[in-house]
Amino acid sequence: MGWSSWNAFLVDISEDIIKHQADLMVEKGLKDAGYHYINVDDGFFGKRDDNGIMFTNEKRFPNGMKPVADHIHSLGMKAGIYTDAGNNTCGSIWDNDLAGVGAGIYGHEPQDAQLYFGDWGFDFIKIDYCGGDVLGLDEEERYTSIRNSIDKVNKNVSVNICRWAFPGTWAKDVATSWRISGDINAHWGSLKYVVRKNLYLSAYAGNGHYNDMDMLEIGRGLKPNEEEVHFGMWCIMSSPLLIGCDMNTIPDFSLKLLKNKELIALNQDVLGLQAHVVQHENESYVLVKDIERKRGLTRAVALYNPSDQPCDFIVPFETLELGGNVKVRDLIKQKDLGKMKEEIRQTVQPHSV
Ligand code: GLA
Repeated sequence: MGWSSWNAFLVDISEDIIKHQADLMVEKGLKDAGYHYINVDDGFFGKRDDNGIMFTNEKRFPNGMKPVADHIHSLGMKAGIYTDAGNNTCGSIWDNDLAGVGAGIYGHEPQDAQLYFGDWGFDFIKIDYCGGDVLGLDEEERYTSIRNSIDKVNKNVSVNICRWAFPGTWAKDVATSWRISGDINAHWGSLKYVVRKNLYLSAYAGNGHYNDMDMLEIGRGLKPNEEEVHFGMWCIMSSPLLIGCDMNTIPDFSLKLLKNKELIALNQDVLGLQAHVVQHENESYVLVKDIERKRGLTRAVALYNPSDQPCDFIVPFETLELGGNVKVRDLIKQKDLGKMKEEIRQTVQPHSV
């Protein structure tokens, strides 16, 4: 859980922006709600010198990255940084950020690992793959090698693999999380696409490893029901929760949703499992997540309707491995729905959960 710079700022980040956003995460109560990482995404790179030493962008980070990590740590939070497994960053390819040419970690692994985690003190790294893709590198071999270089400096660094689809079962030996989809954007179609990509990947989440559904677009113009789908599904699917909006302008509705204690507890549940599909009708899905105890008497359920029509869900409790009188609570509205017998009958509006 945390905040990441990409969705709101793209490569136009700076020392001031990152520090200020981190301060706002504390002031607005998000640190207390559990959001502990402040992640710098693409855009901090300057050039390498003749010895291959990476420098920061002089305009955006004139004092280097250590003061940024130090500030984040002084707030009691953890600091994240970014690289590419190849030579060139995604920003250098897609956002014309020419400083990202040659900024990737390929050929500089021990050196960059020492700089990012030893000298600067970062705790997390997202490792992108645009440069790796261009070079046609072997993903498993590359990411494993980078992990080994990081381990030589700090074994506790958390790694995120970003190559836009489930990487393969090898990823659990290297990373805490991995992106399972292409880049998200603040439109309904994008949410629907990401959820669809993750629907049948629950077997790969667990034991401290997570399918990453990408940074949150909450607070960036989606409709309220769409934001509920976004947060609700990211929570029940145990995705990392990295807020992606500008904290200066976050709307009240979005802030309150991001602080919903019951949904956060669902996301952060001790078992760390991902909900799996148990029922599927037309475009609608019922997903179940074991929480607190495997096959226990408390279970989390999502009635997810991504279609453009209302959906009348009828879900037999048997399907949910429950029985008798079942107390039902709506975690999004934080309201008890009373006791139900035999089945849940519920109409869910279009684009809702
Ligand atoms: C890729 C990633 C994004 C972001 C950008 C940065 O597109 O998937 O999440 O990090 O690169 O350039």
